[in-house]
Amino acid sequence: MSTTSVLTGARMRWALAAGAAAAAGYWWFGDKAPYPYAQCRLLDLPLPFLTSDRLDTVLEPRRGERILEVGPGTGLQSLHIAPQLGPQGRLDVLDVQSEMLDHVMRRAAEQELDNVFPTRSDARELPFEDGTFDAMYLVTALGEIPEPERVLSEAARVLAPGGRLVVGEFFDRHWIPFGRLHRLADSSGLHLQTRSGSTLAYLARFSPCAAGPGSAEPSLVGV
Ligand SMILES: C[S@@+](CC[C@H](N)C(=O)[O-])C[C@H]1O[C@@H](n2cnc3c(N)ncnc32)[C@H](O)[C@@H]1O
Repeated sequence: MSTTSVLTGARMRWALAAGAAAAAGYWWFGDKAPYPYAQCRLLDLPLPFLTSDRLDTVLEPRRGERILEVGPGTGLQSLHIAPQLGPQGRLDVLDVQSEMLDHVMRRAAEQELDNVFPTRSDARELPFEDGTFDAMYLVTALGEIPEPERVLSEAARVLAPGGRLVVGEFFDRHWIPFGRLHRLADSSGLHLQTRSGSTLAYLARFSPCAAGPGSAEPSLVGV
């Protein structure tokens, strides 16, 4: 074999490897499709550091409250939070995929929960009036939604004064590092109140700043 053909073969292999790496990179960083319903069974496995107990501690759900969950998946958190709101309270679950909402509602009916209400919509445009909710939460959902800053602005709008927003993120391909979330929240007028966990897996609670976007005061972070 000539030297020229050996070099051409090596270049071809490098080109193929670089192409495969670019495709994998695009999939890892660029794919923003919603979580596929076909893999929904995986969503029933609780993630370390994002357990129900930790969600209770950070969200502090109370009887009689109206809370919005965005991106409930199969309802792992919904079925835990809804009973705590009692018959006078209500949990709205909002998802862009109707299969996910149907799944949550089937499970809610099995558990005789009648305070869960589904809405199919994109979280970047929440179909609710200003100040509707006492609290809102998203667990491993914000990073999956393109333009998370729009979701945060919508959260600041639909929360009542003094309302709570809890964001849970876990290190996967849609993960939002805590520092980035904190910056996006500040620019959306959301003030950090507390955080549980490290940047790789955390639950963080924010509240609308009285003076609006860009006015966040220094925050106390409890890890
Ligand atoms: C990874 S799952 C998380 C499910 C659940 N919170 C959990 O922790 O098991 C992300 C959820 O966000 C939903 N989602 C993705 N994009 C959305 C969007 N633009 N608006 C509303 N929900 C969206 C998906 O359909 C899915 O139910």
